[in-house]
Amino acid sequence: GVKLNIQPDSQALATAAADFIAEQVRAKPDLSILVATGNTPMPTYAELARRVRAGELQMDRVVAVQLDEYLGVAEDDPRSLWSWMLRSFVEPLGIHRTVKLEDPRTFEADIAALGGLDLAILGLGPNGHLGFNEPPSPADVPTRVLELTPESLASNAAYWGELPVPKQAITAGMDIILAARKTLLLVSGAHKRAVLRSALEDGPTPDLPASLLRRTPLTVIADEAAWV
Ligand code: GLP
Repeated sequence: GVKLNIQPDSQALATAAADFIAEQVRAKPDLSILVATGNTPMPTYAELARRVRAGELQMDRVVAVQLDEYLGVAEDDPRSLWSWMLRSFVEPLGIHRTVKLEDPRTFEADIAALGGLDLAILGLGPNGHLGFNEPPSPADVPTRVLELTPESLASNAAYWGELPVPKQAITAGMDIILAARKTLLLVSGAHKRAVLRSALEDGPTPDLPASLLRRTPLTVIADEAAWV
């Protein structure tokens, strides 16, 4: 069943999400986590970092696994999602073990070698994508290179100012995301309201990849702007 946790605002969302993640890490210090970038989880990662600095939480044994990346973007490019994950999650939390998403086959083998993913932390694309699994993405679709849709190019443009959004990307497959032992979907803001409602009520259908999450042990933490 899906657990739906509605919080008054984005800061309360971050506290609730940090509580959820911290509880998993306490139960299993070497938790393997698929880590979304994007705007939504940033306050959550900042709250986790605050707890680590305060000595309330240790995350140094966690394994951080990259969710998605633009094709042909180097680590030192400001648009590198790998570097965004390092800056916002890996470094502030004192994490030493990472899995970088570069080659689809070695990536899936690396995750298998970890014994699978314990937790997937996900944002919700405006068109229902997860990572860069653009609609339609069936449940068994593997890690792969793909063309971004016009919706994703438009929403991602907000991250990079003047720089163009690369047209191709690589994403952890739906196979990898849906096999995670727990999934956490974070949703903030009124612009996500319709797609969140649809992800929870329509399908499940490959036309809305996020709706397929309802087959997993899913926790949704949203703010009232995205829900009420
Ligand atoms: C982006 C990213 C996803 C992200 C999602 C939501 O396109 N590829 O990894 O989770 O869309 O982003 P945001 O949290 O900024 O709304």
